[in-house]
Amino acid sequence: MVGEIEIVSDENELALAGGEHFTSLAVSAISAQGRFSVALSGGRTPRAIYEQLGGAFAPQIDWRYVHIFWGDERCVPPDHPDSNYRMARRALLNHVPIPEANIHPIHTETEPEKAAAAYERELRGFFADGLEREGGGGRRPAARFDLVLLGMGADGHTASLFPYTAALYERMHWVVAYYVEKLNAWRVTLTPTAINAAANVIFIASGESKAKRLKEVLAASAFPGSLPAQMIKPTDGNLLWLVDAAAAEML
Ligand code: 6PG
Repeated sequence: MVGEIEIVSDENELALAGGEHFTSLAVSAISAQGRFSVALSGGRTPRAIYEQLGGAFAPQIDWRYVHIFWGDERCVPPDHPDSNYRMARRALLNHVPIPEANIHPIHTETEPEKAAAAYERELRGFFADGLEREGGGGRRPAARFDLVLLGMGADGHTASLFPYTAALYERMHWVVAYYVEKLNAWRVTLTPTAINAAANVIFIASGESKAKRLKEVLAASAFPGSLPAQMIKPTDGNLLWLVDAAAAEML
């Protein structure tokens, strides 16, 4: 079971559909449990969704109860053009009335391993509070994001989970930092263990450069280490692939 697949005509429709899914999940999580936690993706594709959310959809969401996290971060300062935080800040967060305390960046301006450990502590504290609020204090908290938004690279990576890396098999930690040889750079990323604990995961993919890989990822898995996106299977949650017609061309 690869989850559901929703195919829309083009990138504009993808941005609208992404905005709609985000908004409806936010509205229902806030009404059911008083808050909405989401892990954002970096990359080019989600930016248009963030712009929609910061524009037409913004008034539909009570931003006081939204908590923004990141699924991965590049190891650069927060004002660097490659920063996923900076991208979301400019496309979305600067345009909505969200309290600063609800924005939870990965602090990659410090050493990557320290940033990962600090983020893990922050997430564990946040989700432990969530359990207490629901009266389940004492249970072991999981990384129960209401939504994890993910992109997929043409090599099948997602978040900063790259093919054939140890991060894919990390079971204990929710967040790891490692040096990605093929990028010649450090990344901090949520692990599959953390992502698969989410209530909803939405992959966004657009463009023909993703078509071949999308077909492979959605096929039965041969050896998931070669296609990290295949390792994302929420254990008790929903998985949706939101793709445009160009990316879906080979399905
Ligand atoms: C990042 C990401 C990464 C991204 C994919 C797809 O920080 O780069 O989180 O996993 O989502 O590489 O990126 P595009 O949308 O730019 O193709």
